[in-house]
Order: sequence, then structure tokens, then C-alpha cells
Amino acid sequence: MRTQVAIVGAGPAGLMLSHLLALAGVDSVVLDMRERATIESTIRAGVLEHGTVDLMVQTGVGERVLREGHQHDGIELRFAGESHRIDLAGLTGRSVRLYPQHEVLKDLIAARLAAGGDLRFGVADVALHDLTGDAPRVTFTDATGRPVELLSDVVVGCDGSGGVSKWAIPQSERRDHFRAYPFGWFGILVEAPRSSEELIYAHSPRGFALISTRTEQVQRMYFQCDPQEKADDWSDEQIWAELHARVGGNGFSLREGRIFEKSVIPMRSYVCEPLQHGRLFLAGDAAHTVPPTGAKGLNLAIADIRVLAQALEAFFATGDPGLLDRYSETALRRVWRAQHFSWWMTSMLHISADATSFDVRRQIGELDLVTSSTAASTYLAQAYVGWPQDATG
Ligand code: PHB
Repeated sequence: MRTQVAIVGAGPAGLMLSHLLALAGVDSVVLDMRERATIESTIRAGVLEHGTVDLMVQTGVGERVLREGHQHDGIELRFAGESHRIDLAGLTGRSVRLYPQHEVLKDLIAARLAAGGDLRFGVADVALHDLTGDAPRVTFTDATGRPVELLSDVVVGCDGSGGVSKWAIPQSERRDHFRAYPFGWFGILVEAPRSSEELIYAHSPRGFALISTRTEQVQRMYFQCDPQEKADDWSDEQIWAELHARVGGNGFSLREGRIFEKSVIPMRSYVCEPLQHGRLFLAGDAAHTVPPTGAKGLNLAIADIRVLAQALEAFFATGDPGLLDRYSETALRRVWRAQHFSWWMTSMLHISADATSFDVRRQIGELDLVTSSTAASTYLAQAYVGWPQDATG
């Protein structure tokens, strides 16, 4: 079997890349170990940057996000018992949209299949070969158990933080920048009406909490917890008591409902540098992970792909690898800015187990500045809605 671009991973990065390449007349095959139904139902992020929505709309996969996604013009930072609004639209002229990641994936899969795209779900034993020559190969076992060899010109690793692609870059050529945080997020999905029109990021002496949303009837909420916490050890009563203690008060009260999903999410920052090894390129979570506080993960994956798709298009049109060879440096500029933003939001809003009264009081000083200085709130707003694509890849 032969294709121009072998794409490992059918998440946001892999599917968007396949979609953009197809529009540019470049062939690809997308492989994923998971079944389509799993990919289309796994609960992940929910905030789409302005530029992510624009790209979906401009490339013909934005109809549902515009119809069903909710535009958010602001977020609330809540601390010392009071909410303070960050006016995203007023400060930047841009907004974000709440639209779950698995809905983005459904839209991309539908578009690829309608266009005759080659997507292979449920594959196993994926291995990358001959990456430093000009004829790299991917071998795998397909869903029927048959061994397959896929010949290509370029391989792109979009197989997420647990994927195999990045390990194909030899240790001696790779820097792994890693940071683990001493807390996790306890996440729930709730059948309830919205408690707030906008997302609430709450700092409290008991730790961080986030009130987000999925639809009119389904809400997403999180609270900072020990990363070793077992979701099943928490009763619904304990979960509500913790959330109320962190966000309630001064006239605000959370609306409760049936909790139908609960899980604990680890918090890490990671960057693999560089994002290229010969004819292998990494994108999205396969290359870098951010803690979810800044809502950057999915958006960074799409930003990588926008740069990489252009570079691949130029490469296949002219044979000139110039843009491809600059992909890593171009994409990493935005990645490191987003690493800083995600780390900063995390450190401003979470309470470490060893935090002193100084640490907590200092965070409140910082939050006070961020919500009252136009310069500081503009930094937050620009980062949150997403930096313009041209400036930083
Ligand atoms: C979510 O709705 O899942 C969500 C929203 C904002 C974040 C992280 C997650 O910063």
C-alpha cells in the first residue's frame, strides 16, 4: 500500500491534517488503534479558540460548530468569594466557542469519509521504519488481523501523549522537557441546567474549581484533587459539598443534578524538542502536553497542523523541503508560549499541599492585578482566545 502522508492517530491533529491535505490534493492514510465509536464518544476538552473555529469554517467542517457551539465572550475569575469578569471580546475583539472535542472529531471523520478518505480504525502493532531516508514506512496489523506495510513520503505522528511515534526519535536527538504537577482534576459530567452563562475559574483556600458547560442540559465541572485520588471513592454528596465550598457564596449557587461520569485527570507539561526526525513530524499531544487550565491542548494541536499542512503542501507541489524543515521551530514558538500560559494559569489558581498563607495571599494579589489592570487582563484574554496564527505559527 502507498500514500504520500502516513498519519498515525485519528485525533484532532491527525484528522485535521488529513482533511487539509485532501483539500490541497495530497493523499494520506490515517491509522488509529481505537475504534471509531470510542473516538467519537471519549469526553475531552471543550473550548475552541477563535482561530480553530475559523479554520473549521473556512475548510467546510464548521457548519455544526457554528450552529451548536456556544459563543463565549468572557470568562469569570472567582477569588476571595467574588467573581470578576475577563471581557474576552472587549479586550481582543475575539471570542471562544464551547463545542466538545469529540464533536469536532465526528465532523472531521464524516468529512473525510464523504470525500473518500482512507481511515483505518482498530489497528494494532504500529511501527515506524526508515524515517531518515526518503521512503519511510509504517507497518501495522489491520482490524481483520492482516499485516500491512504502508509506504509513504512523509510520516506524521499524531498519536497523543501515550503514542509510539515520538519514541521513534532517537534519545540522543530528542530533548524531553517534562513537569508533573502535584495535583489532578476531578472531573464530572452532570445532567443539570447551566449555573452560569460563562465559565468560572475559581481560586479558593480549598483549591481550584472550574465550572464549564457542554449543552443546555449537560454541565462539565472540575475540582483540584490529589492525582492519586480514585473517582469511585467519592460519593455524589462529597463531590457537591466540595464544589459548593469552592465556588459558592455571595449570591452564587451551583445547580446540582445527576452525575453520570466522573474521572481524575493528571496534570502535566511536556514538550518533545525537536518535532522532526528525518521524514517524521510530530504534532499535537504526541509532541507536547499542557495542563488543562488554559484550555490550550486541542487548539495547539490544530495550530501545529495549520503550519504543517502548509509546509507539506509546498513540499509536494515543488519538492522544496524549506518550510518542512522550519516546521519544528515555527510550531514550537507557539507551543512554548502556550506552555507558559498554561503553567501560569495553573500556578495562579491551584493550591499546593505545602502552600503557606504567603503563597495563597500572593495568588490573590496576582488575581486582583489580572482582573483590574487592562494590560494584565489583555494578556490573559489574548492567550485564551488564541494568538493570531501569523505571528506565532
Ligand atoms: C472543559 O469544558 O472541559 C474545559 C473548559 C476549560 C478548561 C478546561 C476544560 O480550561
